[in-house]
Amino acid sequence: MEAHSKPEGVAQRPLIVADGLVKTYRMGAEVVKALDGVSLTIAEGEFVAIMGPSGSGKSTMMNLIGALDVPTTGTLAIDGRDIGALDSDELADLRNRSIGFVFQQFNLLPRTTALRQVMLPMLYAHPKPENPEELARHRLEQVGLGDRLNHHPRQLSGGQQQRVAIARALVNNPKILLADEPTGALDSKTSDEIMRLFTTLNAGGITVVLVTHEPDIAEWASRRVLFKDGHIVEDVRHAHRGVADRGMVSAAQRGSEAAE
Ligand SMILES: Nc1ncnc2c1ncn2[C@@H]1O[C@H](COP(=O)(O)OP(=O)(O)OP(=O)(O)O)[C@@H](O)[C@H]1O
Ligand SMILES: [Mg+2]
Repeated sequence: MEAHSKPEGVAQRPLIVADGLVKTYRMGAEVVKALDGVSLTIAEGEFVAIMGPSGSGKSTMMNLIGALDVPTTGTLAIDGRDIGALDSDELADLRNRSIGFVFQQFNLLPRTTALRQVMLPMLYAHPKPENPEELARHRLEQVGLGDRLNHHPRQLSGGQQQRVAIARALVNNPKILLADEPTGALDSKTSDEIMRLFTTLNAGGITVVLVTHEPDIAEWASRRVLFKDGHIVEDVRHAHRGVADRGMVSAAQRGSEAAE
């Protein structure tokens, strides 16, 4: 694990800068406005939770931040590059270099071992690393799966499958880790383990942006951005709940806080 590289309280470089983002989808004669003027700056090293009702534009926003899609109007700079100005090869390059993705349903290949899953993104990297197997093993050890290298997804628990997906997302050393409801398919204990892992990765310097429907999960982040009808309606920074103090908060205390 890299050293803690995030001095508290020091302004960090903006890594994600959205200005007046609009994303519309055309469905036959109908036009759906999935994002309707979103401006948001996320600095390097932040840990952001995106929340909001179903259909409010969260995944659309994640797809844009992930350079999977481009805005209809407005601008979005990722790591200093204006994604609206990039062609599809350049977008793919930005994704491979700067961004790791984690999804609710893990998106693992059913007949592939953990080690191979994590090696795969390196096959598309330029330049290709010389030692993909060793790097993949290192990442799996980092997420606590050093003893599950040759397991297939069906031989792993949900939490372990999500760890494989996280190791895969990390393997090209991205600056940004994007996770769209990463704990949506997991029980609460396993969810906490995954959030502890994200917290550790964030402490190592990686910027984390995750979507969640659960306030308890959002507490692990240090900033909460609330979407409604394609807009941001709330954006709050709050005390960072680190690994250590989280461990000391009892389930009862958490319950009473959640009820407030
Ligand atoms: N590819 C698409 N084509 C047409 N409409 C789309 C497409 N993707 C999203 N939409 C619409 O855009 C709006 C925002 O969708 P989005 O997936 O971003 O919501 P969300 O906040 O992620 O919701 P959920 O919490 O259910 O995942 C919705 O009204 C949705 O129907
Ligand atoms: Mg969604």
